[in-house]
Amino acid sequence: IGKKAYYFDSIDSTQKQALKMSEDSSNDGTIIIAAKQTGGKGRSGRKWLSPKGGIWFSIMLQPKFDISITTLFPIASSLALSYAIEKTFKIKPELKWPNDLTVKGKKVAGMLVDVSLESNKIESLVLGVGINFNVDVKQIERILKDTPNFYGVASLSEQKIKIKPKMLVQTFLLELEKIYESLNKKQTKNIISNWTERSSTIGKKVELNTADGKIKGDAIKIDDDGALIISEKNKTSRVIAGDIIHLSK
Ligand code: BTN
Repeated sequence: IGKKAYYFDSIDSTQKQALKMSEDSSNDGTIIIAAKQTGGKGRSGRKWLSPKGGIWFSIMLQPKFDISITTLFPIASSLALSYAIEKTFKIKPELKWPNDLTVKGKKVAGMLVDVSLESNKIESLVLGVGINFNVDVKQIERILKDTPNFYGVASLSEQKIKIKPKMLVQTFLLELEKIYESLNKKQTKNIISNWTERSSTIGKKVELNTADGKIKGDAIKIDDDGALIISEKNKTSRVIAGDIIHLSK
């Protein structure tokens, strides 16, 4: 992963660019990275603010794993990024279901996956990663404060450790490669238990708005597919996507 890389000073979105290029099978493992994005994409069709100072990239992959791993893949990737941040910045970011990394409860990174299917098999996927590496937190919070489910922004630069962005990306790619190999071999147990150990979601009361109404309950665990299991009084729900709000314990 990352043997071939394209760098842009400014681009609309690395994700959109990677999606265009991912049909070409020679781009398996290729990464597109940009200093700044003018039309960054977030999850659920949201915009993703991508000023200079952040790390914005997308990776094209042709995985061997089957479609049931689609939800687990970005969860596993966020675990890989938490390892990389721990190695470089000496802090252990928490993992908020599904794919967010947080520091002191504020979002420091997010992931997005777009999958192309061909007769129910994954033909290719694009993993988009956004890391608030050295961004103006106050300015971003001012812009985003009225966004639904917004819960604050953190920047790794607040750690006052001097690391080059390239160093973090390289460390992440090595961690991602290990996790990707495990997933390709259907080895998901350790990924799920290590994610759970770093998760701030499991064990909390959470709230989630879905198309069928509001779910409020205790976040019990993620299942083998990465779906979140929420238990309400006498009802258990299984959620595969959405924005959760952490309520008090
Ligand atoms: C989220 O909503 O939490 C996911 C954010 C993903 C942002 C990254 S930045 C690089 C890549 N290009 C995009 O347009 N989006 C992803």
